Amino acid sequence: MLTYTHHNNEITLNHLNQTVHLKGWAAKVRNLGGLIFIDLRDRFGITQLVIKPENPLYEQALKIKNEYVLDIKGVVIERESKNPNLFTGDVEVDVTELSILNTAETPPIIVANDTDALEETRLKYRYLDLRRPLMQNFLMKRHQITQAIREVLVGEGFYEMETPILGKSTPEGARDYLVPSRLYPGTFYALPQSPQIYKQLFMVAGMEKYFQVARCFRDEDLRADRQPEFTQIDIEQSFVDMEDIQGLIERIMKHTFKKVLNVDVATPFIRMSYQEAMERFGSDKPDLRYGLEIFDAKPLLNGVDIPFFQGKEHIRGLILEQGSTITRKRIDQYTDVVKKNHGEALAYLRLQDGQYSGSIVKFFNEPDLKQLPLKEGNIMFLVPGLFDHVSSALGALRIELGNEFKMIPENTYKFLWVVDWPLLEYSEEEQRFYAKHHPFTAPVDPEVLRNDPKNAMAKAYDIVLNGYEIGGGSIRIHRQEVQRLMFDTLGLSKEDINHRFGFFVDALKYGTPPHGGLALGLDRVVMLMTNTTNIKDVVAFPKTQSAKDVMMQAPSDVDAIQLDELNIKVGEVK
Ligand code: AMO
Repeated sequence: MLTYTHHNNEITLNHLNQTVHLKGWAAKVRNLGGLIFIDLRDRFGITQLVIKPENPLYEQALKIKNEYVLDIKGVVIERESKNPNLFTGDVEVDVTELSILNTAETPPIIVANDTDALEETRLKYRYLDLRRPLMQNFLMKRHQITQAIREVLVGEGFYEMETPILGKSTPEGARDYLVPSRLYPGTFYALPQSPQIYKQLFMVAGMEKYFQVARCFRDEDLRADRQPEFTQIDIEQSFVDMEDIQGLIERIMKHTFKKVLNVDVATPFIRMSYQEAMERFGSDKPDLRYGLEIFDAKPLLNGVDIPFFQGKEHIRGLILEQGSTITRKRIDQYTDVVKKNHGEALAYLRLQDGQYSGSIVKFFNEPDLKQLPLKEGNIMFLVPGLFDHVSSALGALRIELGNEFKMIPENTYKFLWVVDWPLLEYSEEEQRFYAKHHPFTAPVDPEVLRNDPKNAMAKAYDIVLNGYEIGGGSIRIHRQEVQRLMFDTLGLSKEDINHRFGFFVDALKYGTPPHGGLALGLDRVVMLMTNTTNIKDVVAFPKTQSAKDVMMQAPSDVDAIQLDELNIKVGEVK
């Protein structure tokens, strides 16, 4: 039997004169002219309690401080001064029975939505931080989103299955977290960067439709949308093509957005090639909520002799419509953004009060300037160089401008599929190929992979929402000879292949069905659906930007005995 009658978000004028039984924390205690008011909080909301001076419980109530845990009974009465911002704001509960279930010391952070606590303090006392309604809402939404996704997958016949955490390195492009083995000194398990190989083995095993809410571990540089351990909704299916997986993900998104946010998502999502995304938006995860598209500026500059544009393969640009009054100082900051993102230089031209000005205006004569697509109030930014460099520089500038000039509408969700990916990336430095996704991604044509690997295309697709990559997947290689060819092209020797992936290449011999899948980054999906830009907000116990758990103080040193058992000697720490 429940030991309360209502949650703290439920009581309204409909309950007038009823006796209710409530539990929760004292969120705020006020003593106003003899009347004690207490905001009682649970994970659902707040109900105001009142204890009047003539109440026999008054003396006991005076002891109550913030974050005390209370058990009360009382009668619902109408408030004198109502709070229209609160669902329970018309009423209060006149307390008739009071029991203090636990006391609390003054908390090191204010347990309320508005807090000025430093992030480090919030993380150190995460259990208090998570009491804040805002944070509870993040976790509640995360739960709802996970369940909504499960509903579609289970409804469509997918089996939820687990895979090992202690395994062997899986190549997803980051460093592995390693776990030393006690029984086999000098050897290590690797924590999974994703369950990629296991899920493909489920397909070999004939399971046909698999999913998992899977923890993944990657030792990589952290950003606002990355955590060293994070969660994927990992999916794999046999006998499918790209459209089948894309359709499934669209159904998942449609259902989840409707159920959790009551937002209608239009499907199918648009498909954009990787090349087009780079050309128009300078990003492989373009934010389509606003325009500000990149264009080829070379044709505009025909016959204009600008020394540092000479011999450059590409000159591309952006036009900001209301930008002619941007200060020099700000433009210098944009130049920093451009340079940090591989751009060589940033040139600009503007038209204000009928006058052209800017860093390259002196190279133009009046008729050439008039030919430019520059209208009153506009500013044009130009970056010269190699395509990849120009694109990433302008892509970064586009995001900077989009944010600064408030071009991004709120509560808008723009999905797209980025498709037609190159299979490989060539590192000039190391003179070798890397897999653009992972080495199990199927080439569109294995013959091109064999004869002209630089131009090989992949059966891969990323799902992008509002400028974030929220998932990635592909059709997989299911024939052993193609998998060997892929490993060969990546420069793995026969010994490497056998040592790292022998079991997997072996498995491909025994009748592997064609298959494919995708993994959604659950943390990022929740982040976007809750309108935060900080992934830590939606992870219950996150790591800091420097990969620390400041609450538990992890990583930490361990007892000498433990190291001894593992046959490990820690060298001098550099
Ligand atoms: P990928 O590496 O693209 O693909 O990962 C899938 C999705 O996981 C999310 N993600 C992250 N989220 C938070 N922190 C991180 N450090 C992090 N890294 C990745 C992203 C990304 O789109 N095995 C393949 C999937 C497949 O091919 O089926 C894989 O892991 O949203």
